[in-house]
Amino acid sequence: MTSAARILLPAAALVACGSCGADALASGGDAVTKSYVVAGAGFVNLAHELRAPSPTGRRDEDEVELYYPTTRRVFRFPHRSEEAVGIRQTSFGCGKLGANVWPSSIALASLLANGGTPTEGRRVLELGAGCGLPSATARICGSEILATDYWEQTDENGNVVFDDKDRLVPKSLFGQNLVYNVGGDENLVSRLDWFDEMNTFQTANHFQPDLVIGADLVYYPSDAQQLMNTIEIMLKTSAREALLISPLSPEYEREALPEFRRQLEGGVLGDSIDVYTDELELVTTKDNGDEDRLTMLLMRLYSNRFYGE
Ligand SMILES: C[S@@+](CC[C@H](N)C(=O)[O-])C[C@H]1O[C@@H](n2cnc3c(N)ncnc32)[C@H](O)[C@@H]1O
Repeated sequence: MTSAARILLPAAALVACGSCGADALASGGDAVTKSYVVAGAGFVNLAHELRAPSPTGRRDEDEVELYYPTTRRVFRFPHRSEEAVGIRQTSFGCGKLGANVWPSSIALASLLANGGTPTEGRRVLELGAGCGLPSATARICGSEILATDYWEQTDENGNVVFDDKDRLVPKSLFGQNLVYNVGGDENLVSRLDWFDEMNTFQTANHFQPDLVIGADLVYYPSDAQQLMNTIEIMLKTSAREALLISPLSPEYEREALPEFRRQLEGGVLGDSIDVYTDELELVTTKDNGDEDRLTMLLMRLYSNRFYGE
């Protein structure tokens, strides 16, 4: 098990892991809660969700645990059998967004872990990371990561500064939970609001990502243009590639997605960015054999100004 995975898991799991590495996470032989198969675009990837370790009984690990109910989920990717990623879900987010691991995140993490997109040695920046499963996964695959999202800012007296009262903004503890999930190091997380162009440029220039990733970001029409600008800035400053996944199935009702897709496929980002879209299927199988099928849109964007270097 890597040190990243150690930090990610609660104390009870670490004790259990002591004797035989991550395999002991689900003691009694890898009790799998759900299996995920992501298929499409010429590949098949797998992820397993293991039974979450039993609660430690400690509610004071940090402020998130102190004030809010939390739940744990543990993922393992069969091609990376020694490593597992533990994620703490909270009960607060951006309205209903970001507090839980969404299926797109599982599909994206699976692509990263199983070689659908090379990650080792790359600088990977995640937008709208929420609970941070793809970032935490990229980290165990050898990437340098920066997990970003946005949350309330506070002034020097700890009072919340609202920069935009018309928008839902997650609590500042949201950022703290993201730090916890990606390895406990604040340097791996940064506040990046798609509405703040200056901050986007600064983050891109400072971190210099070569791969930008995002799961289930295209949600409200009021955010879609700013998200598009953010991706464009990343691809025109340092990133060579962006990889985005969103759910297409009608029950997910991603209102902004059809127009976002139409614009991308229509070349809104100009000739220097090539766009490829594909549909994937995420098949979730529960312990009792019940299956759920979810169609997803994979959007790959490449900055062709790097060709021939
Ligand atoms: C549907 S959630 C997806 C979370 C995570 N990527 C996943 O798939 O589990 C959308 C995420 O986008 C973030 N988000 C929404 N508006 C944003 C903005 N203006 N700037 C940065 N992040 C934003 C939310 O906080 C939330 O974490």
